Amino acid sequence: MSGLEIRGLRVSFDGFTAVDGVDLDVRPGDLRFLIGPNGAGKTTLVDAVTGLVKAAGSVRFGGEELLGRSVHRIARSGIGRTFQTATVFEELTVLQNLDIAAGSGRSMWTMLRRRKGVPEPVARALETVGLTELADSPAGTLAHGQKQWLEIGMLLVQDVRLLLLDEPVAGMSHDERQATGELLQRISEERTVVVIEHDMDFMRSFARSVSVLHAGKVLSEGTVAEVQADPKVQEVYLGHTSTEVTADVAVQEA
Ligand SMILES: Nc1ncnc2c1ncn2[C@@H]1O[C@H](COP(=O)(O)OP(=O)(O)O)[C@@H](O)[C@H]1O
Ligand SMILES: [Mg+2]
Repeated sequence: MSGLEIRGLRVSFDGFTAVDGVDLDVRPGDLRFLIGPNGAGKTTLVDAVTGLVKAAGSVRFGGEELLGRSVHRIARSGIGRTFQTATVFEELTVLQNLDIAAGSGRSMWTMLRRRKGVPEPVARALETVGLTELADSPAGTLAHGQKQWLEIGMLLVQDVRLLLLDEPVAGMSHDERQATGELLQRISEERTVVVIEHDMDFMRSFARSVSVLHAGKVLSEGTVAEVQADPKVQEVYLGHTSTEVTADVAVQEA
């Protein structure tokens, strides 16, 4: 399994520095949560890693430098992401969405035709994300949470080694969050997972490690307990340092 190693990452938009010299190490198989106030630079960091914005510094995955590569080459290096809004083909079935993501070189016609056999990797992804029963349902009829799971499944069929998920549980019910957290734990047994998240209960339940981003910089890093007890984190969220009880509230409100 490969890890992610970011050094001196910097992204500027017209003189405004959104990511300001970030160093970040995510060990292979980690389930890292990336938290921080709105505008902290979380999405921009993921955009930089996936080649969507120009960045300075270094981003290595499995030892290979990614910065300067095209979006497609980065994707082919085993890196995949989801966006804050789901991007599935609503008219196509769950299975067809996975088939297209798998891009196994079959023609559109072959993929859209009813087939008997489901390719092994697709069947496994369906199972992992819990959508086997819904394989033939149009993606547009899925519940919000199920669409996010389908998107994660689309990364799994591409055998992505590093998943970067931008607020995957936003808008999900409590049960959907729980199921998603368990899914991410299972996935991170074999892959490296970075999750941008706002829901602090969700983070507390499932994060293996946490990085707090603030104004484009890493403010704090460690376990959930370490980050919550960090006076710097408390200050950012409350404007002053305080007891652990208020810190808890502060992080919840982030
Ligand atoms: N394409 C862009 N052009 C100009 N400013 C941007 C662009 N994308 C993001 N920003 C700015 O960069 C900062 C970080 O944004 P973002 O990474 O989306 O934050 P987060 O995901 O942590 O909420 C914000 O101030 C945002 O307005
Ligand atoms: Mg964002």
